Amino acid sequence: MFKSARLKLTLWYSLTISFILLLFTALIYRAGSVLLFENLNRFQLRLRAQELNINLPQHLPRNLRDADVGPFEINSEEFKQDFELARRNFLLSLIFIDLGILSISTFLAYLLAGRTLAPIEKSLLAQKRFTADAAHELRTPLTAIKTALEVNLKDKKISREDALSILKDNLKDIEGLEKLSNDLLLLSKAERRAEVLDQRMVALDEISNELTSKFSALVKTKDIKIISKAKHDLVKTDYDKLMQILSIFLDNAIKYTPKSGKITLNFFMEKNKAVFQVKDSGVGIGKENLPLIFDRFYKVESSRNKSKSAGFGLGLSIAGEISELLNGKLSVTSQLGKGSTFSLHL
Ligand SMILES: Nc1ncnc2c1ncn2[C@@H]1O[C@H](COP(=O)(O)OP(=O)(O)OP(=O)(O)O)[C@@H](O)[C@H]1O
Ligand SMILES: [Mg+2]
Repeated sequence: MFKSARLKLTLWYSLTISFILLLFTALIYRAGSVLLFENLNRFQLRLRAQELNINLPQHLPRNLRDADVGPFEINSEEFKQDFELARRNFLLSLIFIDLGILSISTFLAYLLAGRTLAPIEKSLLAQKRFTADAAHELRTPLTAIKTALEVNLKDKKISREDALSILKDNLKDIEGLEKLSNDLLLLSKAERRAEVLDQRMVALDEISNELTSKFSALVKTKDIKIISKAKHDLVKTDYDKLMQILSIFLDNAIKYTPKSGKITLNFFMEKNKAVFQVKDSGVGIGKENLPLIFDRFYKVESSRNKSKSAGFGLGLSIAGEISELLNGKLSVTSQLGKGSTFSLHL
């Protein structure tokens, strides 16, 4: 599809260039012919004057027909032949130059068309991959729910406990599906830049306290310690969106830190910018994966069991989109087995 689009675009570029070339060639040919005629005429006149030993003025008028050139006959048959020959050669040179320009510009047009289409092709491929990934993520839990229900409906002697346990599993899958659809909605909203920012002054320590209490229950289940090092500085931003980004950081930090680990929230001002760092003592991310973790649906494969993480791989891409909304910048440093630090600069 993109190959034919590239060829079509090249054709359009070349047609436009040919049209412009034709127009200019016609103008140059017309003006050049007049100049050629006048100069040949002048040259012939001076030759004849030399033969007859007549002194001609230094400056002859542009149009010799307006000048008093006495006994000379200009525009003779020989002159006309010479002029036609010169004009034909002039036209041939113009055609050769045009052909040269056209082939070079067609080549450049082909390169340019490729460059113009490359980002569109890339985004279309990303869109296709996104749809395929989303469909896959939706299908997996749906199949699990369907299979469990089908198998157990057939089992006439199913006990109450077994039935409850299946319902519980189904509920978990449904909650996962709910999270996925919410995430997809959030991503598409942030991507469309459709949201109006609600900016106000917020204190860094207020944000840190809010985050800590939001995740306190989850942290307790893993016996993880959160240390807050937030200053009482003020920053003007959209509080809810900032909380969404930091919640994604903290959710990951908890998810990818083993039991009894440590997470530090380091929020401070640096050169007029607010910096939010979430540092964990978790599993860390390998160098080869670092540039990819912000891609949609990207999950790092754990080297120990070759299985992928439990999430959908959407959290960080949502954080990236929201951070663009806030004019912020995300960055990460990490060491495998030692931990990671995710930062947002606002
Ligand atoms: N703090 C962290 N420590 C180690 N690995 C991390 C950390 N944060 C993210 N990652 C890696 O980056 C991947 C992408 O993270 P992201 O938040 O986008 O997706 P997820 O956590 O897998 O799923 P989701 O957030 O959609 O539930 C994760 O799968 C994980 O492998
Ligand atoms: Mg996540």
